Amino acid sequence: MNRIINIAIDGPAGAGKSTIAKKVSAMLGYIYVDTGALYRAVALFRLENSLDRNQLIEKLPECHIELKFTDGLQRVFLNGKDVSEDIRQNSVSMVASETSAIPEVREFLFELQKKIASENCVIMDGRDIGTVVLPDADVKIYLTASAEERANRRFRELQGKPDCPDYDTLLAEIIQRDKNDMSRPVAPLKKADDAFEVDSTLMSLDEAVQKIYRIILDKI
Ligand code: DC
Repeated sequence: MNRIINIAIDGPAGAGKSTIAKKVSAMLGYIYVDTGALYRAVALFRLENSLDRNQLIEKLPECHIELKFTDGLQRVFLNGKDVSEDIRQNSVSMVASETSAIPEVREFLFELQKKIASENCVIMDGRDIGTVVLPDADVKIYLTASAEERANRRFRELQGKPDCPDYDTLLAEIIQRDKNDMSRPVAPLKKADDAFEVDSTLMSLDEAVQKIYRIILDKI
């Protein structure tokens, strides 16, 4: 049997992790795991049931999250329903960031992430993959970009969609999410000591894909 290879990509919201990881995993024939989607699914569960922090912790056993993969791409199921599109609403983003700071929620999702990585060659993206979930990953990448560039990218992505905020609101939200994700006491977003840092601010998508693909090939 071929060796299982695990690749971790961490970084702040909007740095391009998911777009790049999707492309690179297709090039390598690996499964792409977007762990932010797991936190978003818990956030959706919380929103749908109007739960405060303690109620959410109590109700976690009723929150069944499953990831299914078709051609290496992930779909997210919440209590049997495909919520892959619903979790992308902008209104879910901030609740996901707040919810992800709850230690019980992180613990709840930890095993699911470990299990997928132990059974498959994966590129897993998130905030704490190289530091907490897969500290022994074969390759670790820390992908960043300036907050302004990330807000620009988000704006282009959301333009024309029903709940698209203006650029200034998106920038403020990105800065707030960075602050939440980096300053929480449990598993904060930070670069692992042995991660390669890639700043994509001035790179095209294609350049960033090639750069990360080459870093991975050199390492494995
Ligand atoms: O990657 P994303 O924007 O879809 O993630 C949504 C939120 O989930 C993000 O604000 C922080 C949180 N998250 C996390 O705490 N740890 C991860 N491994 C992935 C996401």
